[in-house]
Amino acid sequence: MAGRSTLVTGGAGFIGSHLVDRLIARGDRVLVVDNFFLGKRENLADAVAADGDLTIHYEDAADLPAMRELIERHEVQDVYNLATKALEYSFDNPSGAYSVNTDIALTLAELLRKKHYERLIHTSSSEVFGTAVTRPMDEAHPRNPTTPYAAGKAGADLALTSYVQSFQLDIRIVRPFNNYGPRQNTGSYAGVIPKTLARLHAGEPPILHGDGKQGRDFVYVEDVAEGLIRVAECREARGMDLNIASGVETPIVELLQTLCDVVGFHGHWIDEDRRTADVDHHIGDASRLKSVVGFAPPTPLSEGLRRTWEWYRTRFAQGRS
Ligand SMILES: NC(=O)c1ccc[n+]([C@@H]2O[C@H](COP(=O)([O-])OP(=O)(O)OC[C@H]3O[C@@H](n4cnc5c(N)ncnc54)[C@H](O)[C@@H]3O)[C@@H](O)[C@H]2O)c1
Repeated sequence: MAGRSTLVTGGAGFIGSHLVDRLIARGDRVLVVDNFFLGKRENLADAVAADGDLTIHYEDAADLPAMRELIERHEVQDVYNLATKALEYSFDNPSGAYSVNTDIALTLAELLRKKHYERLIHTSSSEVFGTAVTRPMDEAHPRNPTTPYAAGKAGADLALTSYVQSFQLDIRIVRPFNNYGPRQNTGSYAGVIPKTLARLHAGEPPILHGDGKQGRDFVYVEDVAEGLIRVAECREARGMDLNIASGVETPIVELLQTLCDVVGFHGHWIDEDRRTADVDHHIGDASRLKSVVGFAPPTPLSEGLRRTWEWYRTRFAQGRS
């Protein structure tokens, strides 16, 4: 499978850039398409330094004529779709947060249907499930998206599944749970881990929303990047959707305590109201990934958080966010 011509949408983002590192390392010709909404060129610094075959293109991945032209010019075989606008963007521009997910998925599905490339590995999100009705949540768990972002992800899943059923296309849907690790955005749309590490580094207390009992299933970003590649390489995964999860539910209050321990913060915390769209319980069942693909995320949370803090600490010490 190595040495393929591969397009990564959203490749300048958090997960996408780790995927690009791995694809370059194994010798793929990689084309990144990103509109740099949240993506950063510096996320691709390691991939550029690796001196492989990498092209970075500024483009809207929903633009069908532009994507067709790029895919043809680069003779793309595999597309990994990671482009999205962050969940928090749902609260600023709900319709934009929804449609970016469905528009890009439909553009890529149409180009696959017209045989412009061979295989689509699409990134869904565990957010499509909402709060757990049964735990752990397997791929058959009911869909109950609680934000426009999650609804857009669910809409994209449905659209792609319909293309598999109607046209027997080679589409694989990978559904990560809560990712963390180096290069996660620390800005206004940041997740709880980078946001809290930035606060702790600045000597500010962590913020706890509600009682902190709401649980999440955290997966280290490099494990997700590896999982995406393993799914692409696995013949049996064709047409399937597969969770990537640790299978461990960590309450947010416990996560914050671990982050305080890792950083060495012993002060008081700030209590804020629970956010209305926050899901209560989130724990994934990744047994399909294990049985079909033979892969399980190997990095324990404590080790992943330690590596993550090392990375952010170096950055913050250099005055970078
Ligand atoms: N981070 C998580 O915890 C998590 C969990 C589950 C699923 N996912 C999914 O994984 C994928 C990657 O997420 P991430 O955390 O790396 O997000 P990210 O925001 O870091 O990366 C998304 C990238 O897409 C780019 N982008 C946005 N709109 C675009 C467009 N119209 N055209 C081209 N590029 C565009 C952004 O600039 C950014 O670089 C997404 O599909 C997301 O839904 C993420």
